Amino acid sequence: MKLESEGLGASSMANGSSRGIGPIILLGSPGAGKGTQAKRVSERYGIPQISTGDLLRDNVQRQTPLGLQAKDVMARGELVPDELIYDMVAHRLRQVDCDPGFVLDGFPRTPAQAGWLDEFLDNEFFDSPQRPGRCAPIVVRIDVDYNQLLHRLTGRRTCLASGHIYNVYLQPPRVPDTCDLDGSRLVTRDDDRDDVIRERLTAYQVQTKPVAEYYERQGRLVSVNGDLPVDEVTELIRLVIEGHRAARADSF
Ligand code: AP5
Repeated sequence: MKLESEGLGASSMANGSSRGIGPIILLGSPGAGKGTQAKRVSERYGIPQISTGDLLRDNVQRQTPLGLQAKDVMARGELVPDELIYDMVAHRLRQVDCDPGFVLDGFPRTPAQAGWLDEFLDNEFFDSPQRPGRCAPIVVRIDVDYNQLLHRLTGRRTCLASGHIYNVYLQPPRVPDTCDLDGSRLVTRDDDRDDVIRERLTAYQVQTKPVAEYYERQGRLVSVNGDLPVDEVTELIRLVIEGHRAARADSF
């Protein structure tokens, strides 16, 4: 299923409710806008954003055993081996702030990771009484044109303190290299270099595209047009989530 934004306003995702929302998965190529949109979903529904890229970068920065193993792999633009990712994700999903639900950004990234997640949710997550009843994850893929992706990745700047993401071409900060929210200096990610970007896009084509097929076969995948302005993509994702919630409510 593909949603376009015709007739939609550019509303933000403020003031939502978090009750029983369950897992939300944002899929998409590097630079598609997963991080940008996951942050908005997190704020709207009051659920944590779980970015495996952010968790890995934090491990690299703290020089943990995981970080030391992941560092060179990430610098080359390749995927970190699945076995290293599972413990990190399981540890994060067991924390109580995930009880009402969570939004995953950058995971699952291989069909094996998708299968692992389904098993983890079935065997562990849904069994806890504090958590919402069994519900299939809401899966949204953000589709973006290849040339636009290159533009987004080379122009990206991030505030490490607030997590806010900018783009020097598309969403520049008011003052160059400075976060609008807290005045911190913006940084360019190590893997946003031309040669590494191409490796990451190849890894996506070969290893991550089949994840969408995994969910499509189960009838769970909804695609949205990620070439649109940020607020319009936000609105499309909100509509998908609200559609799922309404369908769930009807089935009780
Ligand atoms: P990760 O951090 O997950 O990076 P990624 O998937 O490559 O995705 P990005 O963060 O680059 O892009 P995004 O889709 O979040 O876009 P964003 O919102 O920032 O992974 C990094 C590395 O970690 C991987 O290469 C791998 O080594 C490892 N890793 C992570 N997870 C793993 C896993 N599960 N298994 C194995 N290895 C793993 O937006 C991009 C830019 O576009 C920004 O400047 C933004 O301002 C702009 N923008 C966003 N939306 C719009 C819009 N609608 N219009 C205009 N500009 C926009």
